[in-house]
Amino acid sequence: MKIDVVVLAAGQGSRMKSDLPKVLHPIAGKPMLAHVLDSARSVKADALHVVVGHGSDLVKNHFSHCSDITWAMQAEQKGTGHAVKMTLGNLSASGVTLILYGDVPLIQASTLQALIERVSDDQMALLTVTMADPSGYGRIVRDEILRVTSIIEQKDASAAQLKINEVNTGIMAVPSEKLHQWLPLLSSDNAQGEYYLTDVIAMAVEDDVSVATLHPEFAQETYGVNNRAQQAELERWHQARLVNELMVQGVTVLDPARLDIRGSVRVGRDVVIDANVILQGEVVLGDGVHIEANCIIKNSAIAAGTRVKAFSHLEDADVAEACDIGPYARLRPGAVLQDGAKVGNFCEVKKSVIGAGSKVNHLSYIGDATIGKNVNIGAGTITCNYDGVNKFKTEIKDGAFIGSNTSLVAPVIVGADATVAAGSTITKEVEDAKLAVARGKQVNLKWQRPSKA
Ligand code: UD1
Ligand code: CA
Repeated sequence: MKIDVVVLAAGQGSRMKSDLPKVLHPIAGKPMLAHVLDSARSVKADALHVVVGHGSDLVKNHFSHCSDITWAMQAEQKGTGHAVKMTLGNLSASGVTLILYGDVPLIQASTLQALIERVSDDQMALLTVTMADPSGYGRIVRDEILRVTSIIEQKDASAAQLKINEVNTGIMAVPSEKLHQWLPLLSSDNAQGEYYLTDVIAMAVEDDVSVATLHPEFAQETYGVNNRAQQAELERWHQARLVNELMVQGVTVLDPARLDIRGSVRVGRDVVIDANVILQGEVVLGDGVHIEANCIIKNSAIAAGTRVKAFSHLEDADVAEACDIGPYARLRPGAVLQDGAKVGNFCEVKKSVIGAGSKVNHLSYIGDATIGKNVNIGAGTITCNYDGVNKFKTEIKDGAFIGSNTSLVAPVIVGADATVAAGSTITKEVEDAKLAVARGKQVNLKWQRPSKA
């Protein structure tokens, strides 16, 4: 059976008060529309139709790498039924059409799967929830034996209908063949002058298509985002679930309310994460990794036994076992730490390999460098890798000792077991085992310091 998914994303989202189209606003670092599309993909949708209108160029650009999306343009927003109609030209003739919303981001694949499974030639499926305060929503009208007969919008409802607590989430699965028949018959003869998608319910009943109703596991799955407060509420709910999932996998999270996951995280055993940590993109934390407070870790892999001390920032870094990072360390893209390496406070490492057992402990910048094993980089050492236009490489071989406050003017090589005297500016190769001293000689002069009158 063919599964077509239609995602409505044409609305303006004016209450977001934003230049960014609403469906591009993120939950857990990912646009709301991307969440919806990912759920649709995980129920093996054959086609993804996204209806865009306001900000359509920005939305389409953002997803330009997704060849599985068929875009439909709704230039004027004349209602949800009108929006779905925009996809009719590309919709499969048979199978199931699932209707979703770009601003209802957290719908779960399991809920969608359950809806799809309820659809047959003579049955459609509707996702409903019961609310203490149903105001604003379309009400589910049932007959005396509780069969759904129609959905009535708030503005068209009678006083009695307004008392109904069961509401339409908007999410439904419909036999595609019927949708082709029903959508052209919608009229805008109602309180809002809109083409209501919800009017297909009464058409279904008329055509002897029964309406099965399902409820989501969590009400939050069906929450729409209209303003920043609703966005934040869903963000918190979603984060609580993601963090809980990590704890189920055996991670110690010192404060579940102060860990944010904006991507995918793989963990080993006995990982510890302290307060105010953000994990972004693809993060891998090996057995026993300990992340101290206030760290940001983005697209990085950290192997077993490594400790990342407070206030460190890692991006596109690859860290081996038993390393020691921070506090206040910054690993930029291409930083590779081999087993047991140390990068201490106020050190920045970019596109460089720090070999096994080597130490960059204090206040250094290491860029475009390859550092061998058991090298000691003294405090304040800088690789001068950039002439304003080009980048150059520094190579420091095994066992070298770089004295404090050294400038290594790249391209340059420091040989194995070589020593560089503190305060040197190294511009030429240092051969293996040699001592390089490249600084002004100290002279002590007799001198009278001026004194104030
Ligand atoms: C709709 C339902 C209502 C349900 C509610 C749940 C209809 C007629 N009513 O209400 O029963 O309780 O959702 O939230 O379907 N959109 C378009 N193009 C349009 C109109 C809407 O793309 O022309 C999109 C919006 O961007 C939004 C979604 O469809 O994502 C729902 O539109 P909205 O106006 O919020 O829904 P309501 O009509 O209030
Ligand atoms: Ca509306």
